[in-house]
Amino acid sequence: MRVLLRDFLRVFSTVFLALVVLPVRSDEVPFAQPAPSPNAHGDSYAVSLSDAMQLTQLRHIKLWLAGKAKNWPLASYELAQLRDTFNKAAILYLNIPVPYIAAAVQPLVVLSDAVTAKDAAQFQRGFKALQAACNDCHKAADVSFIVIQTPTASVFPDQSFAPAR
Ligand code: HEC
Repeated sequence: MRVLLRDFLRVFSTVFLALVVLPVRSDEVPFAQPAPSPNAHGDSYAVSLSDAMQLTQLRHIKLWLAGKAKNWPLASYELAQLRDTFNKAAILYLNIPVPYIAAAVQPLVVLSDAVTAKDAAQFQRGFKALQAACNDCHKAADVSFIVIQTPTASVFPDQSFAPAR
């Protein structure tokens, strides 16, 4: 009886793993395979795309908070960080279709112009366009359940977004 239960558990956990865990592994996501690694074992030291996206998410929030507070130097800094993360992702993940990267980079240019001109209305338009590019790529990458919206609150209690005096 005990053997049967153990066998059952083993079969159950294998089936469970196959059905539940494997389909959501990040290497199943179409764009999330890194470029082939130069090292002999084929191991990759590349940051995973989902980790790069977590950074993107934090910077997306900080960019919004900075723009809302009209803290233009901080907004400019966060824009540069976002651009850097996108560039790295594009270099590491060669099978992300270029148009989706270009669609995300273009609003960054609009945002950059808005920041230089200290134009809050243009900043809002650029931010909406960026958000649309995030979600368009997620749809194309079969992760349409990752929906980006305008931040509703600050998650950074230790950072002031007010312009420095
Ligand atoms: C060019 C394509 C592309 C663009 C543009 C893009 N993403 Fe992503 N994003 C992905 C892919 C692919 C994944 C899934 C990665 C994985 O699971 O390996 C992802 C995953 C995520 C995740 C989930 C990460 C996690 O581990 O929870 C977040 C959050 C995210 N993206 C935020 C953003 C934000 C914010 C933007 C825009 C500022 C953005 N993404 C733009 C392709 C993109």
